[in-house]
Amino acid sequence: MRSFNHSTEILKLLKRRKYKSLGLVPTMGSLHNGHIKLIEACSMYCDENIVSIFVNPTQFNNKKDLENYPQSIKNDIDIINKISPNIIVYTPKASDLYDSPAKAEVFDLDGIDELIEGKYRKGHFQGVATIVKKLFERFSPDYAFFGEKDYQQILVVKKLIINYNLKIKIKSISTVREKNGLAMSSRNILLDKETRDDAKIIYESLCTAKKMIKSKKLEEINYFISNFYVNKKKFKLEYFYIAENHSLKVVTSLNSNLKLRAFISVKVKGIRLIDNIALF
Ligand code: PAF
Repeated sequence: MRSFNHSTEILKLLKRRKYKSLGLVPTMGSLHNGHIKLIEACSMYCDENIVSIFVNPTQFNNKKDLENYPQSIKNDIDIINKISPNIIVYTPKASDLYDSPAKAEVFDLDGIDELIEGKYRKGHFQGVATIVKKLFERFSPDYAFFGEKDYQQILVVKKLIINYNLKIKIKSISTVREKNGLAMSSRNILLDKETRDDAKIIYESLCTAKKMIKSKKLEEINYFISNFYVNKKKFKLEYFYIAENHSLKVVTSLNSNLKLRAFISVKVKGIRLIDNIALF
């Protein structure tokens, strides 16, 4: 297993090796089965693979959230090694990617960064775009792999690629769920076992919304979801939106000609969890 703190070492290694396609899986570590699926897909698709592990400070709008973000670098490296010892792991310090202090750049993302999640995490997607662009420019991968749990992030990265003429293809991988339906997230380990089990209601509520869409009006679905969380002590609904799949424009009425997706954010004992599903 090769893990490197400096991108220059990786570039030297890549120069020596002959490969047809380079795949990148950007992560913030604390790897779970969702990441494993991304890394497996990457190594099946590309003959050279880089997994980056870096908790990117510029995408956190909340200092406490950054401080509490789970980290387990040794375990992460073991996980990657088990998938394939040939995968290159990039574990940089901030100084390998940013001047000090680390600052997000400002990108024109046609406003997609300001919708839904962007309303609640100001500047978050500019921070994501900043680090993703740096990684793309550093390694020039042919493909980069992202999970649909962060669906809006995928659209932001696609917009970044178009608007800044980057030559990278995005592969998106379906959300991986725990047995109870909870979307896999590095933040799940911050929940105690009982709460993590209770948190299955987030996915259940999305599935109910999906069922309702066949026979109910948008207002009835929105009402159902907000009411659903009212008496659940551990849970605080932050948002629920039904939006167009591609533009993320929140809809004001249901139209079966549009591809729609439901997006939700719930604070579970203070831990913020997001999820989304395709509706029709
Ligand atoms: O999805 C994540 O873990 C992060 O947002 C990413 C893409 C690695 C950028 O820091």
